[in-house]
Amino acid sequence: MKNLLVTGGAGFIGSNFVRYMLDIYPDYHVIVYDKLTYAGNLDNLLDVKDDPRYGFVHGDICDAAKVEAVVQEHDIDAVVNFAADTHVDRSLMEPGSFIQTDVYGTYVLLEVARKFGLERVHQVSTDEVYGQVLEGSSLETDTLVTRSPYSASKAGGDLMCYAYFVSFGVPVTITRGSNNIGPFQYPEKVVPLFITNAIDDIPLPLYGDGRQQRDYQYVLDHCQGIDVVLHRGTPGQTYNLGTGVETENIVMARLILDLLGKPYSLIQHITDRPGHDRRYSLNCDKIGALGWRSRHSFEEALEKTVRWYVDNEWWWRKIKTGEYREYYKRQYAGREIK
Ligand code: NAD
Ligand code: DAU
Repeated sequence: MKNLLVTGGAGFIGSNFVRYMLDIYPDYHVIVYDKLTYAGNLDNLLDVKDDPRYGFVHGDICDAAKVEAVVQEHDIDAVVNFAADTHVDRSLMEPGSFIQTDVYGTYVLLEVARKFGLERVHQVSTDEVYGQVLEGSSLETDTLVTRSPYSASKAGGDLMCYAYFVSFGVPVTITRGSNNIGPFQYPEKVVPLFITNAIDDIPLPLYGDGRQQRDYQYVLDHCQGIDVVLHRGTPGQTYNLGTGVETENIVMARLILDLLGKPYSLIQHITDRPGHDRRYSLNCDKIGALGWRSRHSFEEALEKTVRWYVDNEWWWRKIKTGEYREYYKRQYAGREIK
């Protein structure tokens, strides 16, 4: 499994994964295949761009002919699929592209894997497919009760993977990760949004009462978990990846303000996300049996993340212009709770 196709590798987690794999496996070749949507960014991969073991191809995972050509040209052994539309709020505005990429695009990758007999398709999925979990923690065998167009699309991708394993013997594995934080996360997601707003003394728009809970994990822990499943996971199986510790959004927001020395008065409660999942929680015993656990505590992960955004304004300042400003206005204007 030496030639990897990393679809969506110019995004947040994908680019961290590419860097991680090139570091850990000196004899691997990694080809990133990415459509470069608003969330894809070649700045995320600047430090590997001259590595002879790395290559980039601009393309859409829904374009079967192009995916086939790349697989043949680069003698690909395995696909790790990060490509997706990923933001829940955008899925509430325009669900169509989510269904297209996250379901149809996954099907295209599975078909190509079937045709060329690839060793593995690894699907990077999410804890959101279980739906909100008010009590207890989700097991990999739990029913998928999705509530947003994003999570429904991701669940569709997961189910297609399983169908290709059962029906055609395509060796798939799936990981379902909790909320990642760390370098290169597009600042529409809550943690980089709050950090970069706080740096500029702009209010932090907190949905509803802010008591929703998420399991925030450091992105490199997640990448390591994907590596473990890619190499040691059993085809046809799904593995949860998280820290097992949930934090309320309001606690996360206050900690960011503490780390930056900014006042809590920057927190502004706004009308809630429609259908907002109150809590996610993963049982990670199955991946634990393969020797993986998340290494960073929430506090360590958040501190590293805050430091990275403070030190890397070059990266996020140019993103927070143009399309981003338009989106921000559309998403947040007039939602303040007085
Ligand atoms: P991201 O939005 O930062 O990046 C997505 C990448 O996919 C971008 O580079 C984009 O250009 C690319 N892409 C989108 N549509 C494409 C298409 N049709 N063809 C090719 N490339 C396309 O996302 P992320 O946060 O890095 O998430 C990566 C994966 O991990 C997603 O599948 C997501 O569902 C999953 N995931 C994310 C989190 C999280 O907290 N961010 C947690 C668990 C799982
Ligand atoms: O759980 C894994 C998922 O985590 C991934 O599959 C998704 O791709 C990723 O976007 C993320 O989804 P969330 O909806 O949990 O992430 P987001 O950063 O959008 O929101 C995190 C929490 O913060 C959620 O409870 C909503 C809240 N929030 C979010 C935004 C953008 C706010 O209070 N204010 C905001 O402005």
